Amino acid sequence: MKAVMLGAGNRGFDVYGRYALEHSDQLQFVAVADIDVAKRERFAVAHGIAPAYQFSSWQDAVAKAEVVFICLPDVLHEEAALTVLAANKHVMLEKPVASTLAGTKRVLAAAQASSGVVMLGYVLRFTAFFQKVRQIVQSGALGQIINFDWRENVSSSHYAHSYVRGNWRREDTSSPMILAKCSHDLDLISWITGSQIATLSSFGSLQHFTLENAPTDAPKCCLDGCPVEETCAFHAAKIYLQEPLAFPATVISTDSSIAGRKVALETTDYGRCVYRMDNTVVDHQVASFLLENGATGTFAMHGHSSEEGRSLRFDGTKATLRGVFKASQQEIRLEPHDYQTSFHGGGEVIKFATQNGHGGGDAGLTQAFIEAVKNNTRAEPQEYLESHILAFALEQSRHSGTVLDMKTWRSQ
Ligand SMILES: NC(=O)c1ccc[n+]([C@@H]2O[C@H](COP(=O)([O-])OP(=O)(O)OC[C@H]3O[C@@H](n4cnc5c(N)ncnc54)[C@H](O)[C@@H]3O)[C@@H](O)[C@H]2O)c1
Repeated sequence: MKAVMLGAGNRGFDVYGRYALEHSDQLQFVAVADIDVAKRERFAVAHGIAPAYQFSSWQDAVAKAEVVFICLPDVLHEEAALTVLAANKHVMLEKPVASTLAGTKRVLAAAQASSGVVMLGYVLRFTAFFQKVRQIVQSGALGQIINFDWRENVSSSHYAHSYVRGNWRREDTSSPMILAKCSHDLDLISWITGSQIATLSSFGSLQHFTLENAPTDAPKCCLDGCPVEETCAFHAAKIYLQEPLAFPATVISTDSSIAGRKVALETTDYGRCVYRMDNTVVDHQVASFLLENGATGTFAMHGHSSEEGRSLRFDGTKATLRGVFKASQQEIRLEPHDYQTSFHGGGEVIKFATQNGHGGGDAGLTQAFIEAVKNNTRAEPQEYLESHILAFALEQSRHSGTVLDMKTWRSQ
């Protein structure tokens, strides 16, 4: 499969680009567009792309293959997707579909009308862990689901990198946190329960990473002699100048040497004090749901965790499922509702091999997309709408402090 890469950043270069290099019998990138010359050249060199097929503008690259990967910033998804879909190309679109609900609906309508295969970057659907959770819940093994509780615990270092200093720190230049970070979770909740949300509410705010919490005399940039360097967990050197090299230090510069990373800290926002940024997205948000099938559920996302990961539980009339999904551990615990388990413990534990790349989801989704293009199997694009509807409804509830009836909201 020959494809074009629009946006050769972290996802474009490190995920899909890497997949193509490791599986060149399945996928090859023949053209690349990136506004950043260093990222464009890095991708072109890795994939052996001739200068005539390297572009600074994504518009110029679209025509170069029948398959297009859109890994551009969130705010460019809508325009790029509409252009690619109008040309009936196959498209792997990174999430979110668009950064507004109206834009999402426009793209999904265009996807419906296009003859190409469209896949959204909902990589977690392609993990063994979440597929097993869904299979168990939908099999009825837990009985009727009465309640679920789902947490997305974002590690404080990752939060500071992406949502305070990085690309997703402002709603107006990317998308709200509940869409940017939690669209996966909202999608999985709908996908696993198989029931629509009837009523919802949400609370949340940006509480910690604000100017009021800036240490006295902290300079604008960490490397300019910060008085709390020793004690601040977010000092840029502690996150970005560590060895061995690992995320997020890998994405601040195409030159990953210590000298290259120091230059990035001096010249980009990654070197800035986390308390003196222009970030607007929340650092904690909760949601409560009443499902149409009568079940209730809660969701919490926050950026103040020691370790990154998701935890969840589904309580049914017959059994409880508890799950942990993080880099170091992926495990489902199934406990029947009986005397023995209630008072003396028991049940079954299902362990999954931990894998890089969203627990194997990155590779799983890429393979599924390649297969879908090969066999021309088109998914129903509207299935991506619900997570976006929920994200924007939760934002409205959070801002207005109201409970939303989703039947009314959906019909607006
Ligand atoms: N599926 C997932 O789990 C997942 C995870 C992370 C990010 N994402 C999504 O993937 C997308 C890309 O994220 P990323 O982390 O790779 O970001 P990134 O910033 O590393 O990459 C984006 C690239 O687009 C380039 N670019 C910006 N404007 C451009 C333009 N006008 N023309 C051409 N190139 C342009 C940038 O230079 C950059 O290289 C985002 O929408 C993000 O939300 C999805």
